[in-house]
Amino acid sequence: MKIILLASNPNLYSNQRIVESAKSRGHEIEFVNVGGSYIKISPNNCEVYHQEGKKLSKIDFVIPRIKPAMTFYGTAIVRQFEVMGVKCLNSSDAITKSRDKLHTLQILAQHKLGLPITSFANSSYDTKDLIKIVGGAPLVVKLLEGTKGVGVVLAETTKAGESVINAFRSLKADVLVQQYIKESKGQDIRCFVIGDQVVASMERIAQEGEFRANIHLGATARFIDISDEERELAIRAAKIIGLEVAGVDMVRSNSGAKILELNSSPGLEGIEGACAINIADKMIEYMENKFKNNDKN
Ligand SMILES: Nc1ncnc2c1ncn2[C@@H]1O[C@H](COP(=O)(O)OP(=O)(O)O)[C@@H](O)[C@H]1O
Ligand SMILES: [Mg+2]
Repeated sequence: MKIILLASNPNLYSNQRIVESAKSRGHEIEFVNVGGSYIKISPNNCEVYHQEGKKLSKIDFVIPRIKPAMTFYGTAIVRQFEVMGVKCLNSSDAITKSRDKLHTLQILAQHKLGLPITSFANSSYDTKDLIKIVGGAPLVVKLLEGTKGVGVVLAETTKAGESVINAFRSLKADVLVQQYIKESKGQDIRCFVIGDQVVASMERIAQEGEFRANIHLGATARFIDISDEERELAIRAAKIIGLEVAGVDMVRSNSGAKILELNSSPGLEGIEGACAINIADKMIEYMENKFKNNDKN
């Protein structure tokens, strides 16, 4: 297969592992900088270029690893490949949905998947009610498009909650308000989904005094065996959002697992380390199977 890795930094562990794995399985893979690529849209021929006029052609697969700051531009490039009939892992539509926590939760709720009760409003007149809807303090306030734990705040009291919500608002930032799952005690579960399988799962444990279990905030990770219900939840969530490769984050509560968010470019370093599983290889293997099956049709 001829594969394009559409990303920003070729030196990232995840990107290096994907390139390594594709090569070791006998494929041709090229790293293409998403910010440096550009497109031609025409009824007769849609094209993607990079490196001052080099046309990207005869591609079997694109692996987009779009960083949050590049979501708009990156998904436009991915969409262009889709228009050209090239398979992308993941689709532009699924990446866009997963980047918006509110949109993701609305879709999951429509399918009755477990998630923390969440509220959202436009006006600061409704702040008190937003807090009431999620059952009062303690509660979590989140930026809609935050990542790596930045923009996720725990408010221990109603007063603190009101101040945080109104402070974000005054900065014109969109935030959602969420029930705090205290039983999770600073731990969450990351399930790495490929197709209709959870290929690895890890538990992340926040640093002392911290409730956010993000690796970037110093959380540690270790392999965890998940229940059949948790496995089913992760697979269904990824399918509903349309992600073929997904990092599904959930917390365990007294009433079962609750999904927090889905990541369309889940990192490989933490989970390959914690689970001793070659996930890059599994991604390429998945693409090979898809490619074979498509050839037959
Ligand atoms: N409602 C919640 N209850 C308990 N812990 C939460 C809740 N929301 C987030 N957290 C913790 O904060 C971390 C970051 O939140 P998340 O929604 O995943 O945002 P980000 O995209 O910044 O990672 C989670 O991994 C989890 O450990
Ligand atoms: Mg997260």
